Amino acid sequence: MIDKSSPIPFYYQLESFIKDQINSGNLVPGDTIPSEREYAEAYGISRMTVRQAINSLVTEGLLYRKKGSGTFVANKKIEQPLQGLTSFTEDMKKRGMNPTSELIHFEIVPASINIADELHIKEHAPVYEIKRIRLADGEPMALETNYISANLVKGLTEEVVNTSIYAYIEEKLNLEIAHADQMIESIQASSEDARLLKINKDHPMLYIKRNTFLQDGTPLELVKSHYRGDRYKFFIKMKRFE
Ligand code: GLP
Repeated sequence: MIDKSSPIPFYYQLESFIKDQINSGNLVPGDTIPSEREYAEAYGISRMTVRQAINSLVTEGLLYRKKGSGTFVANKKIEQPLQGLTSFTEDMKKRGMNPTSELIHFEIVPASINIADELHIKEHAPVYEIKRIRLADGEPMALETNYISANLVKGLTEEVVNTSIYAYIEEKLNLEIAHADQMIESIQASSEDARLLKINKDHPMLYIKRNTFLQDGTPLELVKSHYRGDRYKFFIKMKRFE
């Protein structure tokens, strides 16, 4: 398995071997992988080399470590296309997963100057501030905070936001959600993310800010989301010339 005559570094050979084991299903999510010592002894390489291979797979999100219990195969990341303007509910259903939400906060508050600016409304105008944990098949994926003008989207209730906000806006209010600007940045999990998403503080996260607009250009929502970096990857098709 490790070809000592090859110019390919040993750590890289081991890394490729473990990747193959995962891709072929010999190792499945939740499985413990052998210890550093076991790999080192089995293949006659140093523990440092084994550590280098494992560290690289941990950084890639294919493996994760649990203090005191070992290194495990991670769940496959969700590959999220960036082209379509879709909702969390739609995204998960498309994958055959069950989307649920845990409501953390729901309140109508006076818009701060920043929120008012983003939503093109007057400062202190009423906005819904909605904070939800978004779960897929019961696993927490993201912590999402929406700001929506209460004068634009009437009748939003705790019951509605426990399901799909987009479905309510389109199906009940007949408003046309048209386009959005979205920005993605890497961040580390805050203490709140850690507590609510059951991850470690400083866990890698993706901060996603979305400004969504209706067909006539009216700002519909400002959304600040923290997605788990180990569970998500984004994907976009690119054309060199339009
Ligand atoms: C995604 C987006 C949010 C949007 C939400 C609506 O999670 N990142 O910007 O507000 O979908 O989801 P739903 O209709 O399921 O409430």
